[in-house]
Amino acid sequence: MATILGTDDQAVLTAANALADGKLVAIPTETVYGLAADATNGDAVAGIFEAKGRPHFNPLICHVSGIAMAERYAAIDPLSRRLMEAFWPGPLTFVLPLRPDTAIHPLVAAGLDTIAVRMPRGVAGKIIATLDRPLAAPSANTSGKISGTSAHAVNDDLGARISLILDAGPSEVGLESTIVKVDGPRVALLRPGGLAAEDIEAVVQAKLERMDQRAAIEAPGMMASHYAPTASMRLNVHEVREGEALLAFGPQRASTAENASASLNLSDSGNLREAAANLFDFMKRLDRLGAPVIAVEPIPFNGLGEAINDRLVRAAAPRATLIAEMDEIK
Ligand code: TXA
Ligand code: MG
Repeated sequence: MATILGTDDQAVLTAANALADGKLVAIPTETVYGLAADATNGDAVAGIFEAKGRPHFNPLICHVSGIAMAERYAAIDPLSRRLMEAFWPGPLTFVLPLRPDTAIHPLVAAGLDTIAVRMPRGVAGKIIATLDRPLAAPSANTSGKISGTSAHAVNDDLGARISLILDAGPSEVGLESTIVKVDGPRVALLRPGGLAAEDIEAVVQAKLERMDQRAAIEAPGMMASHYAPTASMRLNVHEVREGEALLAFGPQRASTAENASASLNLSDSGNLREAAANLFDFMKRLDRLGAPVIAVEPIPFNGLGEAINDRLVRAAAPRATLIAEMDEIK
């Protein structure tokens, strides 16, 4: 199992040194835990794919300590900059043109001429600033499993394959970052996530362009099977069947909720932020109980509800799809 440290200055230094040596370190961010490597070290970045057991190289998010560091590697248009100023550090990732001849190893962007960048909140930013190099970091989980939102979950899943995990407690947001791509005045939402689209729209003063389901699935890293638990998922349930595990939401129960073999409520009060923070952990906990089906009560689509519903739909993807898509990324 991996060594687990806290987030004090000594831990930051230990993590930065391990990363400088080309090692993998699982680091907390406000969204989910990341499996980080020095983005300029190709061997280290390749190690991420190995540790996750990803069948293919798909592009990774490059985590930076601020706009100045992002600027070394990416061309930042005025609207992206305005959004960075509004939301960084925070759960918002930008897909930007990669500057030619940067120190970022090409494996990070999987050979694309764009790069996804974000400035995380919390100790991750300190580690990056100490290292003075960006970190490539996908969510810290093996391929096809639910993203880790605690050091304990990361250790259970990846502990045998990495040497160091920094523990900052449960992830504050609990969902991966929102990914956008700016094109002139237009902003495309590539992945709904921990920053609500409405918050971005308030700054842009226009609606985000959403990709249709098919385009979303064809985009890198958007395979439906990404978040699959072992149980099958039944979404939007108004009635619970005998023996199903129930993932509830809000104060009102689905009818026949007493049929559930177990139940967890994402948020008793119907708070979408609280639900987002609990989502992956509760899916895992219900899955571990071994019920064949996890029934999920309806979740509204406003605010973080969009990203929660997106992850649930992926988790509910039929297994046949899952197997076909194992060929793809994640
Ligand atoms: O919150 C998060 O974003 C977490 C934490 C650790 O920061 N990271 C995360 O990384 O979710 P990952 O690797 O699980 O997801 C990265 C997503 C994938 O969907 C990938 O396809 C997309 O970013 N991506 C990366 N570079 C891209 C690019 N150049 N163009 C389009 N999509 C890109
Ligand atoms: Mg992931």
